[in-house]
Amino acid sequence: MGKLIPVALLLIAVLCSGIVCVSEKVSVLKTSSQQARAGSRTKNNLHRQLSLLKLSAANTDFALRLYRQIASQPSSTARNIFFSPLSISASLAMLSLGAKHDTRDQLLQVLGYYNMSRNDAAEVHSAFKYLLQEITSEKREPQLAMGSSLHIQQGLSLQKKFLEDAKQFYKAETVSADFRAADKAKKMINTYVKKQTRGKIQELIKSLNRNTVMILLNYVLFKGKWVKPFDPQDTYEDDFHVDNTTTVKVQMMKRKGRYSMNYDTGLASSVILIPYKGNASLVLILPDRGKLAGVEQNLTITNFQNLITSLRIGSVDLHLPKFSLKSSYQLKHLLMTMGIVDAFTNKANLSKITKSAPLQVSKVVHEAVLDVDEKGTEAAAVTGISLMPMSRPSQLKLNRPFLLLIAEHNTKSVLFAGRVMNPTV
Ligand SMILES: *[C@@H]1O[C@H](CO)[C@@H](O)[C@H](O)[C@H]1NC(C)=O
Ligand SMILES: *[C@@H]1O[C@H](CO)[C@@H](O)[C@H](O)[C@H]1NC(C)=O
Ligand SMILES: *[C@@H]1O[C@H](CO)[C@@H](O)[C@H](O)[C@H]1NC(C)=O
Ligand SMILES: *[C@@H]1O[C@H](CO)[C@@H](O)[C@H](O)[C@H]1NC(C)=O
Ligand SMILES: *[C@@H]1O[C@H](CO)[C@@H](O)[C@H](O)[C@H]1NC(C)=O
Repeated sequence: MGKLIPVALLLIAVLCSGIVCVSEKVSVLKTSSQQARAGSRTKNNLHRQLSLLKLSAANTDFALRLYRQIASQPSSTARNIFFSPLSISASLAMLSLGAKHDTRDQLLQVLGYYNMSRNDAAEVHSAFKYLLQEITSEKREPQLAMGSSLHIQQGLSLQKKFLEDAKQFYKAETVSADFRAADKAKKMINTYVKKQTRGKIQELIKSLNRNTVMILLNYVLFKGKWVKPFDPQDTYEDDFHVDNTTTVKVQMMKRKGRYSMNYDTGLASSVILIPYKGNASLVLILPDRGKLAGVEQNLTITNFQNLITSLRIGSVDLHLPKFSLKSSYQLKHLLMTMGIVDAFTNKANLSKITKSAPLQVSKVVHEAVLDVDEKGTEAAAVTGISLMPMSRPSQLKLNRPFLLLIAEHNTKSVLFAGRVMNPTV
């Protein structure tokens, strides 16, 4: 067998809440003919919804497994975590379009799609197409741009079916590059990423192997605005207890209001859901002192679903630090630990991508950025009237390490997951 040519798989996620984002609400009026057509589509829709739910459940399970895997790395100890599980699932599912035999089966199995369809993964890809359409529709809020691109060595002949499927299901655009001129190619791709992420991710690739023939890139850009912004005038300096011996000063935002929340005795954590405009929310999980590691290891899909369904609306005096998260991961070894092995070795069979040379995946880089601040909308939009709740609100103060998830409710997807150990780094 010839020399294996590495394929780099890059995954990028960016999140910018609190950035002033322009968006127009578009209201769609259903005409009667649309309603009539809707009836005959009901059965198809049901089937599609069911596939979507199965896909989302698998993705959420993968998200939490990956979280636990990242959290258990020695290199993660005492550090902030932030990544987009949905972006990673989408990229790996797209890669599976080009894989055969064990290479493909391992991808589908680890992503949790094993049960979705016995014979082939067609259901997964169609459900993904629908999911991506649902969450990235332009009229939707929060605005979410998610895209894929294939950067391919000039002159390499690729399988037409792979290119068509990647485009059809994952809207991947194809860009040719000359990786032999590695520095130039690196610059081109970094510029591409910088543009797609509106400057949020400046230099995704630090070095590029001259043997690279293909880069599979995925990015997410999320623009969320709080339904109820925080008043910057209420923000004050406060202590955040990183651990027993370390305390840092943070800018603590404050807001009294009604939120979906709960204290989960099973997980020994307070939970609150802070809605973004539209169909997404920031879910914060604040473990009791000393319980963080236990909660992380117990955060299974069942516990997570219970936690979400048990939320009740109540009055709360919420104190949340301002923070920014920026994390970068080399995911190859993590994914191998989870069971995606062949794709990274010379056993890889990616012959549905190209037959002209044996490929293997050499790199999985993922970078994600999040800003949490008062606005979530233009500063001027802070309204002066705040209604006092009838009962005395309980206080929820996030002044010690907590977990966070950004959930999209319509498709029940986990867009982002992470933890804040220290808001000042
Ligand atoms: C998936 O399939 C395996 C083996 O066929 C089975 O044991 C498992 O219960 C199934 N899981 C779900 C969620 O259906
Ligand atoms: C939220 O999801 C629903 C259900 O699909 C959709 O009709 C609605 O337009 C979405 N809302 C926003 C603000 O995007
Ligand atoms: C932190 O303090 C708690 C209670 O005082 C104690 O149980 C725990 O062992 C301490 N942890 C560390 C890492 O010192
Ligand atoms: C995690 O689950 C185990 C077993 O159910 C339990 O003993 C432990 O207390 C849990 N930890 C937390 C922090 O919930
Ligand atoms: C992949 O599997 C096919 C058989 O389905 C085989 O013909 C081909 O040589 C394999 N390619 C590699 C790179 O192993």
